[in-house]
Amino acid sequence: MSTTKDIPTVPLNRFIKHSLNILKNPLPFHHQNFTEQGDVFRLNIGFNSSVIFSRDAALAEYVLQKNQKNYIKSKIQTQDLLKYVGKGLLTSEGAHWKAQRKLIQPAFHKKQLNLLLDAIKTAILHEYKSIKPNEIINVFPILNDLAFQTVVKSLFSSAVNQEDINRLQYITEAAQKMLVKELRQPYLGWWFSLSGKIEKHLALTREAREILKRIVKERRAAQIKANDLLDMLLEARYEDGSTMDEEQLIDEILILFTAGHETTSNALTFTFQLLAQHLEWQEKIYKECIAVKGDTTDLMTQIMTSKVCQQVIEESMRLYPPAYFIDRVNVSEDHFKEMTFPPNSNLLFSVYEIHRHPNLWDQPNLFLPERFENGGRQFSSQYFPFGAGPRKCIGNNFAMFEMIIAVSELVSQYKIYPEFDSIEITPLITLKPKNAFLRFESRN
Ligand code: HEM
Repeated sequence: MSTTKDIPTVPLNRFIKHSLNILKNPLPFHHQNFTEQGDVFRLNIGFNSSVIFSRDAALAEYVLQKNQKNYIKSKIQTQDLLKYVGKGLLTSEGAHWKAQRKLIQPAFHKKQLNLLLDAIKTAILHEYKSIKPNEIINVFPILNDLAFQTVVKSLFSSAVNQEDINRLQYITEAAQKMLVKELRQPYLGWWFSLSGKIEKHLALTREAREILKRIVKERRAAQIKANDLLDMLLEARYEDGSTMDEEQLIDEILILFTAGHETTSNALTFTFQLLAQHLEWQEKIYKECIAVKGDTTDLMTQIMTSKVCQQVIEESMRLYPPAYFIDRVNVSEDHFKEMTFPPNSNLLFSVYEIHRHPNLWDQPNLFLPERFENGGRQFSSQYFPFGAGPRKCIGNNFAMFEMIIAVSELVSQYKIYPEFDSIEITPLITLKPKNAFLRFESRN
């Protein structure tokens, strides 16, 4: 019978030798091992622990979809993140996750999202007012604010003061930065605790919870129907007819802030960098915008018919997937092809590598949005920027609609030029852009 020995192993000394570079950017190390060892390899990381890296699209499909019942998320997405955002959709497992997913899913259906589109567009246009034409601008902070404001305005369409919003944004980002430090420098865990850094961030999280409780209380007292995400979450009912308790509601709101904010701003930033490098695609989107807006004023119809814009965003997320890895741990022993995974094996799927695998994609490193021309269905088992299976991103339509509005509105107003040599990345919890310097020239 096959054993784990069938999986090629990269020894600990190689990991240690490259550790400084891995801390800066682990992707070249992963790539080299995939090239030398094949699509699945085991990396020994010391203390008798190892991680199985994979860029095998069929194995990803097996783990995330076909045999998903045997897999849970790793402790990074559950325990480590949980202490800052609580126990909600992203961070829970089993029956609790299932009940929450069933409860919240309807709030993300197309019909409901339709009610949010005007607020999303208003938030985007407001953010674009800070763009100064003909200057060199780092667009990441602008798009980061845009993504946060979009989630906030979709949740609370009215009557939330800007001071509260700014504080919530500050706290969400501070907690995320702290988590990145903890994950990247686990050997400093004792110092983070002793120096009070972790407690300081937990106190900030408690403050965010208090702000959110006040907002929810005011909404309940006002007894108005706002048709926003908060309304949906307040009205959503479990199978027994009950609603979410207050703590659970706050957990879910914090999770929507965290999950829906950085991923979207990264994707938008990379998309604008790629568009800056490919003026011809800006012109195609521009022409499409004029045609689409000439045909209808209905925003949802405009979004659904902006096919070129959609292809560009899809190709951008193929080359630069914000969620660049997805991890899982198996509950009981499992087998795939010649391989055996003993219980509790850590599997890490490199979405980045699968999206650029030379056997799966023609000219994998080139920006060719036309490959998604026919809806991209032919790529469904090898393209998953939003994950796959039952834990697929609940906000995928929300994000796509938001990004289509954001890209078409910006391209309608400006021509975008690159003020960088090549696109650089910072792989943290998400794949972040590094040098998004652009120049905007008004089209009018
Ligand atoms: C470009 C933008 C986005 C990308 C690339 C993205 C990517 C992902 C991925 C890959 C997962 C699955 C993780 C896994 O299986 O381990 C996920 C889950 C999730 N995402 Fe997103 N996401 C985006 C935007 C959003 C937005 C806008 C929201 C909400 C407003 C959101 C909310 C969530 C939630 C709540 C989960 C957990 C779902 C569950 O476990 O049931 N995401 N996302």
